[in-house]
Amino acid sequence: MASRFLFVALFSLAVFHVSSVPSQLQDFCVADLNSQVFVNGFICKNPNAVSEDDFFFSGLDKAANTSNYMGSNVTAVSVTNLPGLNTLGISLTRQDFGSYGLVPPHIHPRATELLVIVEGTIQAVFISSTNYQMYDKVLNKGDVFVFPQGMIHFQYNRNSTNAVAFSALSSENPGLVYMANAAFGSNPSISDDVLAKTFQLDKKTIDLLQARFSTTH
Ligand SMILES: *[C@@H]1O[C@H](CO)[C@@H](O)[C@H](O)[C@H]1NC(C)=O
Ligand SMILES: *[C@@H]1O[C@H](CO)[C@@H](O)[C@H](O)[C@H]1NC(C)=O
Ligand SMILES: *[C@@H]1O[C@H](CO)[C@@H](O)[C@H](O)[C@H]1NC(C)=O
Repeated sequence: MASRFLFVALFSLAVFHVSSVPSQLQDFCVADLNSQVFVNGFICKNPNAVSEDDFFFSGLDKAANTSNYMGSNVTAVSVTNLPGLNTLGISLTRQDFGSYGLVPPHIHPRATELLVIVEGTIQAVFISSTNYQMYDKVLNKGDVFVFPQGMIHFQYNRNSTNAVAFSALSSENPGLVYMANAAFGSNPSISDDVLAKTFQLDKKTIDLLQARFSTTH
């Protein structure tokens, strides 16, 4: 019975693994960010040229500047600034929130995000693909919340005091799509008649939104 359970557990793990990041075929594959060869991910740097600095990033002790429209600033540590993460299926962020700071609704197409609050209070929300169900939780210092892969989510500091969070993501290259920017700030723009019909608004309102997002790219 126990071995059968173990088999099922291992089988599920194997299936899960295949359906996400492929398993490692070697110790590491430090990204060669300058390679002109395009593969799924980044090509490996010559292992003889790899050093400890390829596995290193510094500076997450520092608060990032939140004096911007959203009042937030996310510092991501992913394959592009820590090349040793290539093929490992993991990355990290530091998230600083000023007074009423917001990380606006967005998705990570390739990662689940595990958030932990280290200072202040954050409202964490995601919307599922089943009946647009909202999951909404207020998090305090030490609290952890998970945003499942692909779900639209946001983090909001409903307070005048600062907040700080860190998160782990299940991809070295999670990707980031802000909903508002995708709708109103694409390049080239989605035509305003399509957006007017989609959002059930007049074209003039759409044009105002498009003007706003084309300048805040
Ligand atoms: C985020 O913080 C960094 C470091 O303080 C700063 O250079 C950058 O301009 C900030 N980004 C935004 C959007 O405010
Ligand atoms: C933060 O960013 C704002 C807007 O860009 C800038 O005016 C301010 O000097 C920055 N603060 C620091 C501490 O760098
Ligand atoms: C705002 O932060 C203060 C200080 O941490 C806390 O006492 C208060 O409950 C917070 N308010 C909200 C609405 O979360």
